[in-house]
Amino acid sequence: MKLLSLAVLALLAACPKSGDKKPADPAPRKDAGSAQTLAPVDDGGTVVPQLPPAPPVPRTPAGLPALPSTPELASITPEAVVLGELLFHDARLSTTGKLACASCHDPARGYSGQVDQTAAGKANLRRTPTLVNLAWVNAFGWDGRYPTLVALVSAHVPGQLGQTLDAALPALLELPLYKAHFARVGGDAKTAAIQALSAFVLTRYEGDSYWDSVEQTARSPRPGVTPDRIIAGYLVFAGKGQCAGCHPPPLYTDGGFHRVLLDPRGDPGRGFVDKAQTGAFRTPTLRGAMLRPSLFHTGAANSVPAAIAHYAGSVKTPGLDPALPAIALTPDDQTNLAVFLNVLSKLRPVPTKPALP
Ligand code: HEC
Ligand code: HEC
Repeated sequence: MKLLSLAVLALLAACPKSGDKKPADPAPRKDAGSAQTLAPVDDGGTVVPQLPPAPPVPRTPAGLPALPSTPELASITPEAVVLGELLFHDARLSTTGKLACASCHDPARGYSGQVDQTAAGKANLRRTPTLVNLAWVNAFGWDGRYPTLVALVSAHVPGQLGQTLDAALPALLELPLYKAHFARVGGDAKTAAIQALSAFVLTRYEGDSYWDSVEQTARSPRPGVTPDRIIAGYLVFAGKGQCAGCHPPPLYTDGGFHRVLLDPRGDPGRGFVDKAQTGAFRTPTLRGAMLRPSLFHTGAANSVPAAIAHYAGSVKTPGLDPALPAIALTPDDQTNLAVFLNVLSKLRPVPTKPALP
């Protein structure tokens, strides 16, 4: 009898309790993009794994405008997005083998970062910006000097990762899975890699926030239904804070260049392209801002409330954009603004890393 109950106890201990939460699985995802699930096919002597079908190209979430009709966006294929995701996470593209696009543009932080170090061990001049909602951007980089994403990525890879794609790709192409991915997208490997990285980046969207769902109610307020602090924050944003002038909905950026802080290092920013706009930088989208570990091109603020405090304190600072708020924001205004910006970021599970070939 005693033995039996001991055995039952041991059995129970071995079974997971129904209330136990399984800890998040740190292992990379095995899915359509990266796993070799089907039988290999013979490709004239070398065995090339057959890839499962690529999932459809991500669709734009609620709250965002229709996609612009550009050739770059129109040419995005599901297969290129899958390959782009792998390359984006692959540190073997860098000279050190330790730095990937995702190391700086952290998917868990809205694809943004801090003032990060390049593969050569040099601190970047500027903070790693977010990569969300770039489909609507037509001048890339903080100073907007690149007219297309392909142009930016071509220059960016050697600058950040320490080597060109010509140098990095041959080793990857020796791996059968990568070989299959490159064969599936077609064309020469370097062009394919740049287009795949661009396709992955251009399909990172930030939308469908809690604010998008309350916005309708906010426009026709119903007493007791509207979350008051959020609405109050929106009213500061669109009213006396004058934020919406440069960060207009629905993208919460005007795509323009402004001088909203003085850079102690004298980085000319847009001045590289147009002398008259020295000190100005491209307005970032505020969708997803809460996820970023640091803000502004210098990384001068480490949170959204700190960025708001910057605006509250920069009233009538000489040399800044005349469109900045002319009235100081009260502590209550600042809190409400932060509440509003908080619900403009979608809460979502941390994106998992794909299993690399
Ligand atoms: C060492 C950190 C680092 C790495 C690695 C890195 N980036 Fe960046 N990225 C930056 C910084 C810093 C900028 C801003 C550059 C500027 O404007 O001066 C940037 C800018 C960008 C932009 C422009 C965003 C915009 O708003 O216009 C894109 C797109 C981009 N990176 C994609 C990539 C891709 C793809 C990779 C991998 C091939 C990559 N980055 C690797 C730091 C990094
Ligand atoms: C004159 C145009 C302008 C106005 C007005 C303005 N912004 Fe900005 N905002 C910008 C620009 C440009 C940047 C990037 C500046 C830089 O880094 O040098 C920025 C950056 C930010 C950032 C950091 C985003 C990031 O990813 O780095 C936040 C947060 C922000 N603004 C919030 C606000 C709020 C809140 C208001 C209203 C109080 C406001 N902005 C008013 C143009 C403006």
